[in-house]
Amino acid sequence: MSNASSSSRRAFLATAAAGAAHVWIPRPLKGYSTAEVIAMTPVTPMGSGVSKWDLDTPALCVDLDKLDANIAKMQAALRRNKLDSRPHAKTHKCAAIAKLQMSAGAIGICAAKLSEAEAMVAQGVDKVCMTTGNLSPNKIRRAMQLRKQAKDFIQAVDYEPNAHDLSAAAKAAGVVADVVIDVAVGTRSGIPAGEGALALAKLVDRLPNLRLRGMLSYDGGAQHINTFATRKERTLKNIEENARTFEAMKKAGLNTEIFSGGGTGTYNVQHLVPGFTDVQVGSYVFMDMQYLAIGGEDGNAVYTDFAPSLTVLATVVNNRFPGRLTTDAGAKALTLNVPHAGVIGEPGMDYNAGSDEFGTITFKAASQTYQMGDRLELIVPHCDPVVNLYDYIYGIRKDRVEVVWPVTARGHSQ
Ligand SMILES: Cc1ncc(COP(=O)(O)O)c(C=O)c1O
Repeated sequence: MSNASSSSRRAFLATAAAGAAHVWIPRPLKGYSTAEVIAMTPVTPMGSGVSKWDLDTPALCVDLDKLDANIAKMQAALRRNKLDSRPHAKTHKCAAIAKLQMSAGAIGICAAKLSEAEAMVAQGVDKVCMTTGNLSPNKIRRAMQLRKQAKDFIQAVDYEPNAHDLSAAAKAAGVVADVVIDVAVGTRSGIPAGEGALALAKLVDRLPNLRLRGMLSYDGGAQHINTFATRKERTLKNIEENARTFEAMKKAGLNTEIFSGGGTGTYNVQHLVPGFTDVQVGSYVFMDMQYLAIGGEDGNAVYTDFAPSLTVLATVVNNRFPGRLTTDAGAKALTLNVPHAGVIGEPGMDYNAGSDEFGTITFKAASQTYQMGDRLELIVPHCDPVVNLYDYIYGIRKDRVEVVWPVTARGHSQ
């Protein structure tokens, strides 16, 4: 070590010693217990009575009149077609909205993730059908614990070894668990329709601690097909083999009380599928830019069956550049989904949420001149993943906050 460097090192140590009281000494990182994590509440929402235009932004809002009307309209439409509704809670992840759907006449709700189902049951929404299989030993155990708590819990299965594992876990939990076979439409999830699916249904029927209730067949690829005529034709074609499997289950004397699937894009087609019992509608409560673009039965290019009730409020944080505005709602407020968010009242604006914290709007013409701090209201690209970004939803009636609902299962993805 040279003299120069050893003296500067000494000087550093001396300074450090002199200021020891102010030197930050890292401590080992403390972990938190589950209870401590739960107690760490998120940012406090603004209270009821506040004008929505005064909310801190980005703010997730639902127009309560539109939400109520969407729920009532879907319930009536399905009833007219002699189908039940079993709304999918993956869209809203919100127990309060699930309760509205149940009180409007839904026979239960669906959940995509086990922790979502657990969160719903914990809030008193206990008629839950898990439309996804649970494969790991711990999830199988958790699912059967949930079944123990909630007698109307139904678990989807699409794999024979999983059926054996579930039956064993049900036995260990001291229950006979209700199960539906998930039969694929397309190639995403589920067992292919036909002999294999029938064999799985027979296996579930035989296993001592499982009770077969029927089958699921959700056609995710059909929901956003453009134009009603094409959507209807493809939905009915895609599900033919599944309907034959369902018929074969019936002929084999198996329990076929449930034949469930469909969504917001095909809610008015599913009754044409022989044996269909209920529709797992999700997005209709909120709607979004993706659904508005699919076209309706009335031939309108915009799908207007349900009103866009869900919006994000954003604030203009830069107006200094011609033909451009910057807002405080970027990818963390709206996701990167396409089509882009729609600015209500500004059809000429293109909203790019490509940056984490900022939205960039470009336009040739706007209905007014926007000042710094002005608010804009946005229809979200795709409702499900946007809701999952927020701790709570402001329920708005006549432009004022009426309720604040926690997004009960926000981030519950396991
Ligand atoms: C299995 C299942 N059922 C129902 C739905 C609800 O569909 P939608 O939001 O199109 O109504 C989804 C959505 O992804 C789903 O995965």
